Amino acid sequence: MKKYAICGLSRRALNLFMKPMIETFSTRTKIVGLLDSDSKRFEVCKTTYPSLENVPEYKEEDFDQMIAETNPDVVIVAGRDDSHITYIIKALEKDIDVLVEKPMVTTAADSKRVLDAEAKSKGKVTVTFNYRYAPIHQKIKEMILEDKVGRITSIDLNWYIDTYHGSSYFQRWNRVREHSGGLSIHKSSHHFDLVNWWTDQKPVEAFAFGELNYFGPDSEFNPKKEDGRFCETCDYQLDCDYYTRWNSRSATVKVEDDHVGQGGDLQRKYTGYRPDQCIFDSEINIEDTYATTVRYDKGALLSYSVNFSTPYEGYRLAINGTKGRIESVEYHMPQRIPFPTPMQTIDYFPLFGSKQTINVVHREGGHGGADPIMLEDLFLGKDPNRSYEILSGAEDGAYAVACGEAVWRSVKEKKPVKIEDILASKETQEA
Ligand SMILES: NC(=O)c1ccc[n+]([C@@H]2O[C@H](COP(=O)([O-])OP(=O)(O)OC[C@H]3O[C@@H](n4cnc5c(N)ncnc54)[C@H](O)[C@@H]3O)[C@@H](O)[C@H]2O)c1
Repeated sequence: MKKYAICGLSRRALNLFMKPMIETFSTRTKIVGLLDSDSKRFEVCKTTYPSLENVPEYKEEDFDQMIAETNPDVVIVAGRDDSHITYIIKALEKDIDVLVEKPMVTTAADSKRVLDAEAKSKGKVTVTFNYRYAPIHQKIKEMILEDKVGRITSIDLNWYIDTYHGSSYFQRWNRVREHSGGLSIHKSSHHFDLVNWWTDQKPVEAFAFGELNYFGPDSEFNPKKEDGRFCETCDYQLDCDYYTRWNSRSATVKVEDDHVGQGGDLQRKYTGYRPDQCIFDSEINIEDTYATTVRYDKGALLSYSVNFSTPYEGYRLAINGTKGRIESVEYHMPQRIPFPTPMQTIDYFPLFGSKQTINVVHREGGHGGADPIMLEDLFLGKDPNRSYEILSGAEDGAYAVACGEAVWRSVKEKKPVKIEDILASKETQEA
């Protein structure tokens, strides 16, 4: 039985980690300590999981006391992105293993601090990049390992986040770069990690353009330039296209799934913070649209774009190599797409042969069936039947963050940014 302390009682911590630890892996895992900067979160956590009633609670500054009193084997770090660095470093200094949600940290400089701390520690960092575990994504990895593509030369990846999910980032802390690193880190680190893992190449340099097109005070969708509104109580609800698209007039608050930012849901209760802030507030200092080119160390070129306000959610992917090409199109969350969607397949085109279509066995569970398979690796040990590495370590986490930072820095500085330069940099925040 391993003992776990949890830093950051977020929605993600409650649903991804704590629920299965209590319900599925209870013979293997024991939650021994809870830490958060907001005392309300202990109440939310213990009301959701009454069996945790007697687990001790610790404030942000009481990490050392928590470790001394509870002696965990592993620290799970799953709070707001900018809080990760503190707990990762402190745990490594005490030779304790860390499981951290993506993004590992919010800056390339902090990524370097984690790498340096891990090198001196007996503890090891695991970053829970769950997208790797989606059955389709594993199959693509296996096809590349079987040399179906040959030497990878180029990747096209266009990611679309729909108006429902995309706007939710602008209602929450994620909309401030100091808290999330911006969406090229907070969200795109998932996508960069997938490409880094599939290709087994390291990003070297990125050039990007980026804009804030849909959100913020100057948005053409903003019904009134006035800061500080909240969706649940806003006088302009019915003039807001984002609100009316996803909420009916009769049910002013409609909780549909993980990403809804309004009240009425116990797990969305915090002190002095609401996850239904106005998507047109002027504190928003990040981009909602990016197009970027990334060069890799073994020659691959990535052409990546992401847009956080599209009519449907999904991606278009192509991986080209000297022996063939892989293509796949995903329509994510079909229940939110107002037209019929085909089941995701993988098309394989040998460079000079006939096309094959692969229907991958799908699995139930969060993120396309990825979350339950990842949890088994985390809590039961690596699947002995899988022949390749899939769990991400600190270096994977660092390259994904650095790639995201290179993107937003390139947007600001209007020039290509070298990944190694920012991984070595002492700057931690936007100049
Ligand atoms: N892999 C995925 O698919 C996925 C999905 C959702 C969220 N996440 C990640 O999970 C994490 C939590 O996201 P969420 O949206 O569920 O968060 P949330 O907004 O529900 O909760 C954030 C928590 O962090 C706490 N916190 C803030 N500052 C803190 C500090 N200094 N010390 C301790 N606690 C602090 C808050 O009080 C709150 O309890 C983030 O890192 C996010 O990127 C990953």
